[in-house]
Amino acid sequence: MSADREALMQAARDAAERAYAPYSKFRVGAALLFADGGVVTGTNVENASYGLSLCAETVAVAKAMGEGRRGGLVALAVFGPGADRISPCGRCRQVLSELASLDASDPMVWSEGREAEGEWRLSQLLPDAFSGK
Ligand code: THU
Repeated sequence: MSADREALMQAARDAAERAYAPYSKFRVGAALLFADGGVVTGTNVENASYGLSLCAETVAVAKAMGEGRRGGLVALAVFGPGADRISPCGRCRQVLSELASLDASDPMVWSEGREAEGEWRLSQLLPDAFSGK
C-alpha cells in the first residue's frame, strides 16, 4: 500500500471514531486528499428520520466545498469496518463527481471494509457521470 494511501486511510479510520451512527451502528469515515496536501474528513451523520442520514463521503465533500475547495481532489479513502467490503453509494458517487468535474480530475477511491480492500478511479465507479456541462 502506498504511503499516501495508508496515511489517508488512517485519517478515515480516525474519522470513523467520530461517526454519528446511533441507529445503524455502522460507523464510516471518509478522508479526501487534495493536490495541495490538504485532507478533509467526514463521518456518517444519521438522523432519527432514517432517510435523512448523510454518508461520510457526502459530509466530507460538503465540508471541503464549504471551506471553499473547488477541485484538486486527488483521492478519497473510505473506512467501513461494519461490512465485509465497502464502496461509496450511488448518491455519494454523484456528489464526489460534482467536485471532481470542477477541474476534470478523476480521483482515486480507496476503501477498507472488514475483509476486503478496494481501489478504483471515480470514473470506474460512475461512468458517464452527469455533470451539467
Ligand atoms: N454509509 C456511509 O457513510 N458511506 C458508505 O459508503 C455506505 C453507507 C452510511 C450510511 C448509514 O449511516 C450507514 O452507513 C448504514 O448504511
